[in-house]
Amino acid sequence: MNYMGKKWIKEHKKEHYYKNAKRYGYRARSAYKLIQINRKFNIFKNVYSLLDLGCAPGSWLQISIDFISDNLKKTKKKIKPKILGIDLKKITPINGVDFLQMDIHDKSLQMKLNEFFDNKKIDLIISDCSIKKTGNKTLDQVSQIKICDRILEIAINLLKKNSFLILKCFEGSEVPKFLKSVKEKFHKVRKFIPEATRSRSNEIFLVCQSILP
Ligand SMILES: C[S@@+](CC[C@H](N)C(=O)[O-])C[C@H]1O[C@@H](n2cnc3c(N)ncnc32)[C@H](O)[C@@H]1O
Repeated sequence: MNYMGKKWIKEHKKEHYYKNAKRYGYRARSAYKLIQINRKFNIFKNVYSLLDLGCAPGSWLQISIDFISDNLKKTKKKIKPKILGIDLKKITPINGVDFLQMDIHDKSLQMKLNEFFDNKKIDLIISDCSIKKTGNKTLDQVSQIKICDRILEIAINLLKKNSFLILKCFEGSEVPKFLKSVKEKFHKVRKFIPEATRSRSNEIFLVCQSILP
C-alpha cells in the first residue's frame, strides 16, 4: 500500500474513535485506550478502589465507573467503591467519583490520598497524565519522566500487592532507565500501544503488575 493509502487508514481510525466517543458520551477519544488496555490485560478484575492521576476531562473515569459497576453486580459482598480523580484542571462532576484539583507533585497529596482511602491500599492506579508538549522531544520526554517518577512513588505507597499500575511515557532515550526502575519495583512490566493511540504519537503505556515485596 502506498503512503497516501496508509495515511488514509490512520486518519480514518482516528476519526472512528472520535465519532464513537461522541456517540457514547465519552468525554475524550482516549476512553478507547483504556478499553483496549483492559481488553488485553483485564486490569479491572475485582477492582473497587481506584485512583486516576491526570484524569481531565474524565473519560477514563467514565470507563472505570462502568467496569466497577459491573464488578459490583457480580459480587455478593457489600462494597462501597472509592474512586478518585486528580488533575490540574477542573472536571465536570461524574456520579460516584470524587475529584481533587491539584498538582500530582504537591507534597500534601500523599496525606490527602491516605485520608480519602482511609489509610488502606487500593486496587488499581491508572494514569494518562501528560505534560503539555513543547515540540522539543528531548525536553518533553524528560518532563514526562518526572511525572512518571512521581506516579511510581505514589503507586508504591498506595497499591495493593497484586494490583496494576498503568502509566504513560513518551518513547525515547529516557525510557530504558525509567523502565529499569519500574522493573525493580514490579513483578511484571509490559509496554503497550493501544490501537486508539494516534499513529504520529510516541506515547506508550506501561502495564505494571504486582508490586515486589
Ligand atoms: C491526556 S489528558 C488525560 C485524559 C484523561 N485520561 C481522559 O480520558 O479524560 C492528561 C491530563 O494530565 C493532566 N496533568 C498534567 N500534568 C499534571 C500534574 N502535574 N498534576 C495533575 N495533572 C496533570 C493535564 O491537566 C491533562 O488533563
